[in-house]
Amino acid sequence: MPEGEEFVVTPYEVRGHIDYARLRELFGTQEVTSEILAKFHHLTGGDLHPLLTRGVYYSHRDLAALLDGFANGKPFFLYSGRGPSGPLHTSHLVPFDLCQWLQKRLGVPMYIQITDDEKFWARSGLTREESVRWGYENLLDILALGFDPKRTHVFFDSRSIAALYPLAIRVARKIPYSTVKAVFGFEPSTNIGLVFYTALQTVPCFWPSWAEGRSVPCLIPCGIDQDPHFRVTRDIAEGLGYPKPALLHGQMIPGLLGEAAMSTSGDRPDNALFLNDPPNAVDRKVRNAFTGGRATVEEQRRLGATPEVCSVWALWRTRFAESEEKFQEVTSGCRSGSLLCGECKSQVLERVHAFLKAHAEAREKVRDWAEGTVVTTAPKPL
Ligand code: TRP
Repeated sequence: MPEGEEFVVTPYEVRGHIDYARLRELFGTQEVTSEILAKFHHLTGGDLHPLLTRGVYYSHRDLAALLDGFANGKPFFLYSGRGPSGPLHTSHLVPFDLCQWLQKRLGVPMYIQITDDEKFWARSGLTREESVRWGYENLLDILALGFDPKRTHVFFDSRSIAALYPLAIRVARKIPYSTVKAVFGFEPSTNIGLVFYTALQTVPCFWPSWAEGRSVPCLIPCGIDQDPHFRVTRDIAEGLGYPKPALLHGQMIPGLLGEAAMSTSGDRPDNALFLNDPPNAVDRKVRNAFTGGRATVEEQRRLGATPEVCSVWALWRTRFAESEEKFQEVTSGCRSGSLLCGECKSQVLERVHAFLKAHAEAREKVRDWAEGTVVTTAPKPL
């Protein structure tokens, strides 16, 4: 960990107790203020996504200018991605929820990158075949959130390489090894795939500008752990004649066992709610989940509990509270001690089961058009 800090946040490691205001300072990003929320409110005709109102998406780079540009007739596109290594869990959907909402409200194109190379390079024990296979499975889960088939484009790294490579070459030439070593903390033993990888994650930021032959701004909603990649991107953008991407950063969603992030790495499957978990596993995981509750019922009734540290509250906050009223009811009930953890878990479980069932049905319906979203050819010579 950096000297004096109690946490680490990089694309390849999230650890410790994250102080999000401090992280924004360390990364040098801006706060999502009420003025930013007002801009979204204005553009969407009075609608705001709960991930924005509840402060999950709390940090940004250059978002105000991008939204002002859009209001003045300068369109942008959305870009986010997923490095497949296994089934998705509920937190993986969070950036894509926000993207889907933005696409629907603003009618903007969405580019999704499935990096079926990244985790093969980054994680021991994952085979290439597994990474590719999970890439397809993950893509169905993402598209099932309700993306518009006509406005959604997918880069599947190994299959889309002919489309990506002409730009990747140019991007890679601009990035010195010393930069990636400093940004990602690479060691002499790091494989060279990972050293090159950040170039591939940069390419979609510039791709529509290249394809359309004019400057098309990019907005990337992503977990704040991905910011280091895009700091590199932003540094080289102008040198290549492309606009710097704007970013909207989400907090990490705590794992059910109380870890900083709902990570799937390691051997703690009960830390995450996977989209393909059977109902009895879902029940077990939520029942055993780490909460902000007190040691005894009596104490909790008297002193109340702490939603901010609770992994079950994080479920309500990020997806399962269907209205602001419900979210406030759960939050204040928790704080005051009137809502006990067992009851809170029963209520959230009802919603988790309903969601997983509806989601499993929705993902079957996207199968027939998913393939058509994969970009496999370059738009023109470069
Ligand atoms: N590196 C991301 C992951 O580990 C995947 C990814 C690729 C991504 N492009 C992105 C994430 C753009 C956010 C935005 O899952």
